[in-house]
Amino acid sequence: MNEIYEEVVEKLKSVKSLSDLDTLKAEYLGRKGKIRKLFGDLKKVDEAKRRELGRKLNELKSALEEAFNKKREELLDQVEPLDPSMPGESWYGVGTLHPIYIVANRILNVLESMGFDIGEGPEVEEEYYNFEMLNIPKYHPARDMQQSLYLNNGKMLRTHTSPFQIRYMLKHKPPLKAATFGRVFRADEFDATHSPVFHQIEGLAVDRNISIGDLKWTLERIVEELFGKDVKVKFLPSYFPFTEPSMEVSVFYKGKWLEMLGCGMIHPKVLENVGINPEEWSGYAFGIGVERFAMVKYEIEDIRMFYENDIRFLEMFKSERWI
Ligand code: PHE
Repeated sequence: MNEIYEEVVEKLKSVKSLSDLDTLKAEYLGRKGKIRKLFGDLKKVDEAKRRELGRKLNELKSALEEAFNKKREELLDQVEPLDPSMPGESWYGVGTLHPIYIVANRILNVLESMGFDIGEGPEVEEEYYNFEMLNIPKYHPARDMQQSLYLNNGKMLRTHTSPFQIRYMLKHKPPLKAATFGRVFRADEFDATHSPVFHQIEGLAVDRNISIGDLKWTLERIVEELFGKDVKVKFLPSYFPFTEPSMEVSVFYKGKWLEMLGCGMIHPKVLENVGINPEEWSGYAFGIGVERFAMVKYEIEDIRMFYENDIRFLEMFKSERWI
């Protein structure tokens, strides 16, 4: 027994890692280890000696356990040498999706599940798509609704995602259902409720018997996804040159009616512009202000919070579901 003890003490000297330690420990104290085997051999010993040997074997077992524990402590105590070339530990751990993208993803997921084709349009746009084709001719007062930013080459920054409607309908024949998400630009003040850059989700559907009922149903599913099943939704008359009738949707949330988005039935002139016969086809379209949704949902009072990227603000959305 003394020999076994010495043997282990000797072997422990060359152990350098916790996993080597575990291997060695298993060899002696494990279920199939040497000590277990010796306990088994006790059966073969004279009854007179068995008691004495059993006691000694137990002593050996405790001594070995102690030796292994001591070595474990030693290994744990060893300070890792500093390697200054190692990458630093990330201070904030795993990142999080920006609240605008959380809201947008959830809306797009709903639309995708309904069969909407998710596409993209350019941020640098032509007046032709941003205005003319959407039934907003030059000198139309509606152009003032959307203070525009023009580039030197005659192009402009899109003031809304609605030109996507035109581009999509020029490329695809009805029946069709499509949506896009992206940045839009306006020559606006930068204050608590206005930003010269913000995000919209545009959706449109054209088919043989599309009605306001289809539009309402789709928008209600989107609102529900973010504000829950019991939220009250109200459709009010509004005006956009590219939809007729036009509506805005308000949501009753936390005690207030809040205006959330614009929508309507695609204007027959717009359908004609893209070569779709309005006698045969009808469609709806909607434009969602993503900041608006996010501000209401997360009770954010100042739109500028979204763009400052203050880590304390972004960290608040760590546990939000975005899928
Ligand atoms: N483009 C409109 C806006 O930016 C919103 C809208 C989209 C309205 C589609 C009706 C249909 O205000």
